[in-house]
Amino acid sequence: MAVIFSGVQPSGTITLGNFLGAMKNFTNYQNEHECYFCIVNQHAITVPQDPKQLWANIRNLAALYLAIGLDPDKVTLFIQSEVAEHAKLGWIMTTLATIGELERMTQYKDKAQRHGSGDSIPAGLLTYPPLMAADILLYQTDYVPVGDDQRQHIEITRDLAQRFNSRYGETFKLPAIHTREVGARIMSLQEPKKKMSKSDTNSLATPYLLDEPETILKKIKRAQTDSENKIYYDRENKAGISNLMAIYSLIKDKSTDEIEQLYEGKGYGQFKNDLAEAIIETTRPIQERYHEFVHSDYLDQILTAGAAKAAQKAAATLKKVEYLMGLSRNC
Ligand code: TYM
Repeated sequence: MAVIFSGVQPSGTITLGNFLGAMKNFTNYQNEHECYFCIVNQHAITVPQDPKQLWANIRNLAALYLAIGLDPDKVTLFIQSEVAEHAKLGWIMTTLATIGELERMTQYKDKAQRHGSGDSIPAGLLTYPPLMAADILLYQTDYVPVGDDQRQHIEITRDLAQRFNSRYGETFKLPAIHTREVGARIMSLQEPKKKMSKSDTNSLATPYLLDEPETILKKIKRAQTDSENKIYYDRENKAGISNLMAIYSLIKDKSTDEIEQLYEGKGYGQFKNDLAEAIIETTRPIQERYHEFVHSDYLDQILTAGAAKAAQKAAATLKKVEYLMGLSRNC
């Protein structure tokens, strides 16, 4: 039995990219592995958040975790800020990291650029990776199922773990990334060379898990493609249609070869209609369950129990770390 850990930021509505690239995969681990799935609200505050909206987003995400089929009897579902060990180990990891390696992180560079000069770049954007390392390392994680955009974050997690182990003694397991073969990087529907993102300002670029059926149909129909009207997978030259094929492949559990055969001689119009229908069929039951959970007391009970369970394991790791570093009296 391996330990699985992953987290999602409650920083907006969950996109089809989040779902297909990471969350849908979470349910595949729950029967056989020890799983921790976290709502990483302390990562979300690395950029300013409206408190009311943040809290609503946290609940929404918790309800969605359940709605996609995670079973709280099998997995530990919790809010990052409710397990104090994350911030504590996060600080320790920050002290192990160097400014140089944090400044080289591509996500930091992208986000920092949007904020302009140093005086307006939140310091939390820079120290984001050590907190993420702490999330993962607290649970002695074997595998981290995430999208491809998190690869560098997992690499630095391993570096920091190794640095700690060699300085203070073998403590942390080195986690490995798990990405999906197709779907590790779902692209924008409007600019298929760019990653699909929660923060895209073009509302047509990103289907959300909670979108109405008409909205999904509209977004898929307007998705950018080429003019060839022939369906085959070629990421380089046919980025738009290949991205739609990747989405179809993940939803219908069919390989891209199978999709090519299925749509031989058929045009983009029919493919897009079928794809929209497939997304709607997938999201409808998720949305129904989401509405059942989001305002329920049950959700609070799950989160309270999840935090207690996570804290137990996290505390054991942190205790050892603090002892080895000379921060505490006993182990
Ligand atoms: P976040 O909240 O941006 O995204 C959540 C998950 O969705 C994946 N994802 C995608 N996958 C494929 N195609 C896309 N277009 C796409 N967009 C997002 C992300 O890779 C991620 O798996 N830093 C993390 C949150 C985090 C975390 C952790 C993850 C904090 N601590 C510990 C794992 C382990 C993030 O911002 O994910």
